[in-house]
Amino acid sequence: MTAPLIDPFHRAISYLRVSVTDRCDFRCVYCMSENMTFLPKKELLTLEELDRMCSAFVRLGVRKLRITGGEPLVRREIMTFFRAMSRHLQTGALDELTLTTNGSQLAKFAEDLADAGVRRINVSLDTLDQDKFARITRWGRLPQVMKGIDAAQKAGLRVKINTVALKGFNEDELHRLTDWCAERDMDLTFIEVMPMGDIGNEDRIGQYWSLNDLRARLAERSPLTDLPDRTGGPARYVRMESTGQKIGFITPLSHNFCESCNRVRITCTGEIYTCLGQEGHSDLRAPLRASESDAMLDDAIRAAIALKPKGHDFDYSRQQVDGQVSRHMSHTGG
Ligand code: GTP
Ligand code: 5AD
Ligand code: SF4
Repeated sequence: MTAPLIDPFHRAISYLRVSVTDRCDFRCVYCMSENMTFLPKKELLTLEELDRMCSAFVRLGVRKLRITGGEPLVRREIMTFFRAMSRHLQTGALDELTLTTNGSQLAKFAEDLADAGVRRINVSLDTLDQDKFARITRWGRLPQVMKGIDAAQKAGLRVKINTVALKGFNEDELHRLTDWCAERDMDLTFIEVMPMGDIGNEDRIGQYWSLNDLRARLAERSPLTDLPDRTGGPARYVRMESTGQKIGFITPLSHNFCESCNRVRITCTGEIYTCLGQEGHSDLRAPLRASESDAMLDDAIRAAIALKPKGHDFDYSRQQVDGQVSRHMSHTGG
């Protein structure tokens, strides 16, 4: 038996998030700048290398694999990779293979994803208003995403909507978004906006809408019951009694959840980030490429996890942005 991956704070690492591309067909304002410089293709791990990397983590005890980007579905031949990873579902080594997507390519890929053993996907969507959608995503078009969500549900995929809570942007849509998810039998998770990328400080504090406040607004409308449900991610869930729907809260700012962190992230070039909210990272591409055996890779993974920090330092409480991280969210896929 190989020893499980345990970090210095006794947290077992069972969840790997893998960014397969830094590219995206949208430019969400809190995630990317308008003029991003993307990596040259030769820097990327090949699909075979991604397979080897993920398989090493699965062998070392990872049970949940989430594919991210950028937008994961814009990576060329990505279905080959999903099909390859589904073998770990078949052997029982992996509990869940999933992705976080902007939904733009789902009409094309939903069936194939379901065939590869994906059961549940997270789709990012912050507004149901077409103009606002175009504004927040800069390049996105809402009807295309709606078609994608339709296709996903038709293919039997369970859809969870991820909504970044943004003051002055989607506050007025709280009930509309909630009702829409209830009608379509989709879970909904709200996320507090985090200070990542080269965004002005005032902007971020101005945009920040605490989920304590959002939750209180929901509770004015219906009783909320805390649920014990855990997906292995950071969200904590409630049931909205008026509709029976499940609503999640991801609260890096108002309620830090780092003590139960079970995850690490790999970028599309094979860097490992052991915390979303810190700059520290290590290279896994060199040990991966150095030898056909996985011994060096395994050692490098363990060495990186031995450096996993206790948590992020994001903090807006002093009327300034503290703990900001300079890389864009798209670098590690959230
Ligand atoms: P589920 O499996 O549905 O629970 O997914 P998840 O919440 O793990 O994944 P998803 O990609 O939907 O994550 C939603 C967002 O939550 C991410 O994009 C991040 O913005 C945020 N998030 C996820 N993990 C962490 C984390 O470890 N730290 C912080 N600060 N934020 C995180
Ligand atoms: N703060 C919070 N969430 C963010 N996301 C992207 N950038 C940020 C940010 N700065 C979310 C996206 C998507 C997920 C990958 O991360 O909306 O749901
Ligand atoms: Fe884990 Fe870092 Fe996220 Fe905290 S901020 S939950 S430690 S990845």
